[in-house]
Amino acid sequence: MANGMNQQEQTMNLENLERVYTNYSSVYDQTFGKAFNQSRESAVKGLHVSPNDHVLEVGVGTGIVLPLYPTHCRIMGIDLSEGMLKKAGECITKHGLDHVTLQRMDAGQMTFQDNSFDLVMAAYVVTAVPDYRQVVSEMIRVCRPGGRIVMLNHFSNGNKFIAAVEKLISPICQRIGFRTDLSLDHVLDGTPLEVTKKEKKDPFQYWYLVECVNAKNGYSRP
Ligand SMILES: C[S@@+](CC[C@H](N)C(=O)[O-])C[C@H]1O[C@@H](n2cnc3c(N)ncnc32)[C@H](O)[C@@H]1O
Repeated sequence: MANGMNQQEQTMNLENLERVYTNYSSVYDQTFGKAFNQSRESAVKGLHVSPNDHVLEVGVGTGIVLPLYPTHCRIMGIDLSEGMLKKAGECITKHGLDHVTLQRMDAGQMTFQDNSFDLVMAAYVVTAVPDYRQVVSEMIRVCRPGGRIVMLNHFSNGNKFIAAVEKLISPICQRIGFRTDLSLDHVLDGTPLEVTKKEKKDPFQYWYLVECVNAKNGYSRP
């Protein structure tokens, strides 16, 4: 392809995504938001965020996750969609979350300095962006060496039948903002991320919580 993007990535271009998610924003919490709540709650509880940790919520959406964090940390939430961020702002006001700041930003081109965060969380995001490699690479850049990068997501598994179905339906799903055919191996390939935890987070075992240490710049775990 002339611009180096494949067909899937073109379908999921940023302009499309912005429009799709802004359209969802008014019903997100009652639909997708609600459906993912159990795994989201369980994931954030298990993070054990330390006092004063600087947390980045990538693709913060309507902010549905924000009240689940302890108030002793600082949280920066970024999202591409104006509509989603408007809802996140309302959530912050409603719950009095003074420790949270929001910014409109493309996760594939963040404006933060290197090593700005102790914990970078992406819930249901890596399959909702046009170029997951770029987003993961930015998450690694802005997270400090030894910091944590956590993804709560569906990753396609080794079952050949399910993988074939997911591949088949992925182009349709992309029109409504996400893909179904991404494997964890592809996401981690060539990165300095070391997986420290991988848990299934719902009764249907669809959502995985994957916690990694950012072993960049020669960092080695104690
Ligand atoms: C499925 S929603 C997940 C929202 C939230 N994390 C949650 O737990 O419900 C995906 C979010 O990623 C955002 N998003 C998609 N592409 C993005 C990008 N390139 N940069 C920043 N946010 C993006 C969308 O606007 C949307 O709010």
